[in-house]
Amino acid sequence: MASDTVYRASTTAPVNIAVVKYWGKRDAKLNLPTNSSLSVTLSQADLRTLTTASCSARYPASEGDSLLLNGEPSDVSGARTQACFRELRSRRAALEAADPSLPKLSTMPLRIVSENNFPTAAGLASSAAGFAAFVRAIANLYELPASPSELSLIARQGSGSACRSLFGGYVAWRMGDKADGSDSMADQVAEASHWPEMRALILVVSAAKKGVSSTSGMQQTVATSGLFQERITKVVPKNMELMEKAIAEKDFPAFAEVTMRDSNSFHATCADTYPPIFYMNDVSKAAIRAVETINANVGRTVAAYTFDAGPNAVIYYLEKDTEAVVGTFYHVIGDTDGWKKDVLKGLKPTMSLDEGV
Ligand code: ADP
Ligand code: DP6
Ligand code: CO
Repeated sequence: MASDTVYRASTTAPVNIAVVKYWGKRDAKLNLPTNSSLSVTLSQADLRTLTTASCSARYPASEGDSLLLNGEPSDVSGARTQACFRELRSRRAALEAADPSLPKLSTMPLRIVSENNFPTAAGLASSAAGFAAFVRAIANLYELPASPSELSLIARQGSGSACRSLFGGYVAWRMGDKADGSDSMADQVAEASHWPEMRALILVVSAAKKGVSSTSGMQQTVATSGLFQERITKVVPKNMELMEKAIAEKDFPAFAEVTMRDSNSFHATCADTYPPIFYMNDVSKAAIRAVETINANVGRTVAAYTFDAGPNAVIYYLEKDTEAVVGTFYHVIGDTDGWKKDVLKGLKPTMSLDEGV
């Protein structure tokens, strides 16, 4: 008779916001990128995914694996989710083959329950925190002796940006050059404690689901944008080099310039996609102007904006400049009504970096 035991493990995972953006796949099946990227992992005290994975012989096999996302059943039949299940199961099966006394968890249906405490599919990296938590929760359940690098290889197959959420601090995803993708994973460029003064201000312009998903948007860009070639061959390699140097030297003006230029370059390739994709709206553009005003008023670069595939702004700045940045941000956009009021409601408290999971 099948045992009644329900095996369970929970985890949380942080969001990461890229300062050199991943945009483009060279292999859609293995989810391999056309360029390397670099991000900052944000504090889980503010934005996080909480995921519980469970399995049991008493879960009906006919129901298969399932995912409940924010209380709603979510499709798990997609190739990328299936790849994560397959990779994790095969590692568990190898442990079970080596030690027959282990319960045969690899043969049981999996139930995943996940919740994001921030907008899903709105350009705030829900797929990054989501798949990092998904992979880590199952790895914990299976008691896999997997390193963050190994889990990052698996999470990458769920969503590219997720590979960077396995690490804290400043994280690079190296594109790699092997056809099987075995060298396309994340590594930590610097711990959060190397430059702990970094802060991020999140401006939730809209919590609505984006019109064009990241997966689909980047496919259209790769297929139709001429500017994109320039980005992946020249702009990004240079930005990666400049960004790693800026982080090593804790040079905020350099960090800020590369961050803003790279965000602009990424959104320019979206505009150069045919038909064009626009992720930023007028409020996003007002946020860019606000950052420019703040930097001009202070007389040095104290704030940097960046936008993922959505209208929501992330503003990086240093702790010592909180008053100038957060205070002025309120002042610059907070003096009238209409949409500006909505922007203020969307201002999330200052966030620090995460040390890693
Ligand atoms: P975002 O900008 O939020 O990353 P994407 O278009 O890249 O938006 O990805 C959104 C998709 O990521 C969702 O539709 C869902 O399929 C997946 N996702 C988001 N959160 C989770 C989660 N907690 N667990 C599993 N998958 C998730
Ligand atoms: C603009 O990782 O969401 O946020 O691999 O198709 O799931 P898939 O895409 P995803 O793309 C993120 C794009 C970005 C930039 C970045 O995070 O580097
Ligand atoms: Co995403």
